[in-house]
Amino acid sequence: MDIQELSKSTDDQVFAKTGQHLDSLQKSILESVLQRQNFQKIAVNNGYSYDHVKKEGAKLWKLLSEVFQEDIKQGNVRSLLENKAGSTIYSFLNYPQINSNNISNSHINICRENSQSLEDIEKRSRHPQTENQSPIVDLTTAPELNYNYGRNSEISTLKEWILENKTKLITIYGLSGIGKTALTLKLISEINTQFDYIIYRSLEHLPKLINLKDELKQFFSQSQSTPLPEVIDYFRSSRCLVIIDDLENIFKTGNLAGQYLTDYKDYCKFFQQIATLSHQSCLILISWENPGEIETLEKENKHTRVLQLQGLGEEAKEILRQKDLQDEERWD
Ligand SMILES: Nc1ncnc2c1ncn2[C@@H]1O[C@H](COP(=O)(O)OP(=O)(O)O)[C@@H](O)[C@H]1O
Ligand SMILES: [Mg+2]
Repeated sequence: MDIQELSKSTDDQVFAKTGQHLDSLQKSILESVLQRQNFQKIAVNNGYSYDHVKKEGAKLWKLLSEVFQEDIKQGNVRSLLENKAGSTIYSFLNYPQINSNNISNSHINICRENSQSLEDIEKRSRHPQTENQSPIVDLTTAPELNYNYGRNSEISTLKEWILENKTKLITIYGLSGIGKTALTLKLISEINTQFDYIIYRSLEHLPKLINLKDELKQFFSQSQSTPLPEVIDYFRSSRCLVIIDDLENIFKTGNLAGQYLTDYKDYCKFFQQIATLSHQSCLILISWENPGEIETLEKENKHTRVLQLQGLGEEAKEILRQKDLQDEERWD
C-alpha cells in the first residue's frame, strides 16, 4: 500500500464514522507525516505558518484517535494506521534502483508515485501552465527558518520572473543573514504547485559539480521508468525548480567578487548552460556575491535575472515589536 492509498483508506474510515472527509490540509499533514516530514517542512510546503500546522496536526490526531479508538500521535500514526489497514507503506526508498546509489535516503522526502511513466511526464510537460497539486519536493536539507515580515515586493518580483517571464536562472545575493534563504523558502511555499520537482541543496560542504548533478538526476529519476542522461534533459521534460544555496563557498576569498575556486570552475559552465539552453525549468542561486559571469549573462540574456536583497527596512521593526522591545523612538 502506498501513502496515497493509506491516506485514502484513512479518509474513508473518517467519513464512515463522522460523515465528513478530511480537508486538504489534514490530508496533506497526514501524508507528510507518513513520509516522516516534520511540521516545519509541512508548513513550508503548504504555505502555512508552523503554528497553524501544529494546531491542525493536534486536531487531526484527536480526530483519528476518536475514529480508530487508539491514542494516535505524530510518532505512532504511521504504524497504527498500517496495522489498521493490515499493510505496510510501500516505500520508494526500498526500490533497488534508489538503494544502489550513494544518496542518503533522508535526502528525499516526498515521492508522489513510484513508477510514473515517461508518457505521463511528457503529457504534463506539454501543459506546463497546469497547476500541479503534488510536486515531488526535497527540502530535507533546507534550514528551518522563521519568515514573518515583509518582502512582499521581492516575492512578487520573483514570482513574475519565474511564473510569467519563465526566467531560467535567478541569482539572489546579499549580506549573510539578510534573509535570502528565508525569502526563497517562503517563495517556494507560494509557487510549489507550478512545478513537477522542487529540490534544495547547499554548497556549504563544497560538493563537486559531478556529485551534485548525480544527486539531482537521482532525485528527478525517481518517478521515471527510464533515467535521462543529463540534468538539462530533466529540465526539458519536466518543470523543475532547483535551489542552490551558499554559492559563496565555491568562490575564492580575497579576490574580486565571484571568482570560482580552481576545482569548481565547471559550475560556471553549468550555470551558463541553464541560462542559455532551451528548457522549462528554473535554477535559483543564493549567494553573498554575484558571480561575474552571471552579471554578464544578465545583460546579454533575457532568461537571467539578479536580485540584490537589502535589509527588511521598516518591517524589521515588527520583529522588535514582537519581542516586546521598549523605547520605540530609539529603534532606528
Ligand atoms: N522576513 C523575515 N521575517 C522574520 N525573520 C526573518 C525574515 N527573513 C529572515 N529572517 C530570519 O533571519 C535569519 C537570517 O535569515 P537567512 O534567510 O538565514 O539569511 P541568509 O540566507 O541571507 O544568510 C533567520 O533566522 C531567519 O529566520
Ligand atoms: Mg542562507
